[in-house]
Amino acid sequence: MLSNQGKNLTSYGDAGFSIFIRRAFNRHLGFDEADFNKPIIGICNTESEINRCHTHFGPIVEAIKRGVLMAGGIPLEFPTISLGEIFTSPTTMLYRNLAAMDTEEMIKAQPLDGVVLIGGCDKMTPAQLMGAASADIPAIMFTGGPMANGEYEGKTLGACSDCRYYWQEYRAGKISEEELSKINAELAPTAGHCMVMGSASTIAVCAEAMGMMLPGAAAVPATHNRRLQLAQETGKKMVELVEKELTPSKIMTKNAFENAIRALMAVGGSTNAVIHLIAIARRLKIDLPLEWFDELGRTTPFIGNLRPAGKYQMEDFSRAGGTPALLKELESLLHLNEMTVTGKTIGENIKDIKISEVYRDIIKPFDDPLHKDGGIAVLRGNLAPDGAIIKPKAASPALLKHRGRAVVFTSTQDLEARIHDPHLEVSAEDILVLQNAGPVGAPGMPEAGMLPIPEKLLREGVRDMVRISDARMSGTAFGTVVLHVAPEAVIGGPLGLVRNGDMIDLDVENRKLELLVDEEELEKRRAEWKPPVIASRGYTRLYQNHVLQANEGCDFDFLVPDMEADES
Ligand code: FES
Repeated sequence: MLSNQGKNLTSYGDAGFSIFIRRAFNRHLGFDEADFNKPIIGICNTESEINRCHTHFGPIVEAIKRGVLMAGGIPLEFPTISLGEIFTSPTTMLYRNLAAMDTEEMIKAQPLDGVVLIGGCDKMTPAQLMGAASADIPAIMFTGGPMANGEYEGKTLGACSDCRYYWQEYRAGKISEEELSKINAELAPTAGHCMVMGSASTIAVCAEAMGMMLPGAAAVPATHNRRLQLAQETGKKMVELVEKELTPSKIMTKNAFENAIRALMAVGGSTNAVIHLIAIARRLKIDLPLEWFDELGRTTPFIGNLRPAGKYQMEDFSRAGGTPALLKELESLLHLNEMTVTGKTIGENIKDIKISEVYRDIIKPFDDPLHKDGGIAVLRGNLAPDGAIIKPKAASPALLKHRGRAVVFTSTQDLEARIHDPHLEVSAEDILVLQNAGPVGAPGMPEAGMLPIPEKLLREGVRDMVRISDARMSGTAFGTVVLHVAPEAVIGGPLGLVRNGDMIDLDVENRKLELLVDEEELEKRRAEWKPPVIASRGYTRLYQNHVLQANEGCDFDFLVPDMEADES
């Protein structure tokens, strides 16, 4: 019996018949008996005209197919859900787990020996890695690559840090509608995903650092020839991985996740990566406590001078050597014996990397970093018993220790309705609090955590304030923004007990977030708390009933293996 033809058979109660009919149906692509023995490589193609970060996948898929054929495999392309950040309501995060389920189930249901996953936009890479981790057949991640740099009047533009920056300047009355429109035309100038170190670029770097992508694949721009060469190489490697039976669980080990977190900290990457890495790891029964991120952040130098925390963009990073050069610089901190999709260890992959001095401002030397520690701090206190996070390098240093009066918004709708109201009682020293924007509450934990600065303060020159929420923020965003407060307000977390005028203490150095209201008063407020209204039907109901909190990765409870159970 032929292996790949006998894999994941359609059930008719007669395996022989299942193979017989499958062969008959397989012939339509021109394959014959000689081909039926070859490994079948699924190419999970998330190309979509609505997901603009994935519109250019055609030539990439063709290059991967060429690579598979050259190595003696049969490439078969199949679709799954595609999620584009800017075109999905209310937020792609609501559908990340759906995409992960789609990926896992299609890998498991079809007769595949290996799979190449093609993603790119923020949620797609984590969703595909979550699915591949659970399906656990040989797999390689490949992303569509970042856009090339944009430019306006001699200034480099990057989506979406500059989308936010120039919108804020427009609201502040600093630039005209005409200029805003010209900038808009240059913000996203080529195919690819956002080209700053936002969530898409961060997760791509993490995927490469943990060994799931070929070296260099995270940073090469979408439009460069090198991306197609890497795609072809990925196709070839995929066949080799099947022969070696090298599955994701053998690559994504606890040490590999530590390497990924080091890379995340070294590039000052997106806070979203914290949630996604926890979710991917838990699929493999690996626990990544929030404190681990904090600890690794404190001991990893920030050397990737990349926006929004630094100066350059992915095109520049790629020119400087990309993730392999970054990892070379971090070599002394990494677990070098971890296996990767090259079939070699990460140490072997970076052994001969040389970093050109020409690009030393983009990837700083280990001993001469931008900052001696990395990008994400974990806060705790009576306002966030299960943790909250902040990206100190994207914040205003003067606000990292701040006591202020809460100005509370009870939902994203309330925020939208009142934040720019000229009668809103607010000053620059206040702390803007957004409630009920967490995983269950919004639902889907939208990127609303970078609350807009009230227009009347913008016009007075205010550009940053302390903001606290149970929401997320885009990896391209910036400011003194406390995110992922857990437990979230809508399930009874203390964030939901905050009232206008309460005092809040933020102390990032000491990792503290405290609501300065006495316990007796909080108890009274707790007694008034009402449980959330859950969606009455459909996927949103499933989501709200089963989504885990931010510190647990926001996966569905029924998709995560029992972390306590001993399976030995
Ligand atoms: Fe797709 Fe930014 S919108 S990565």
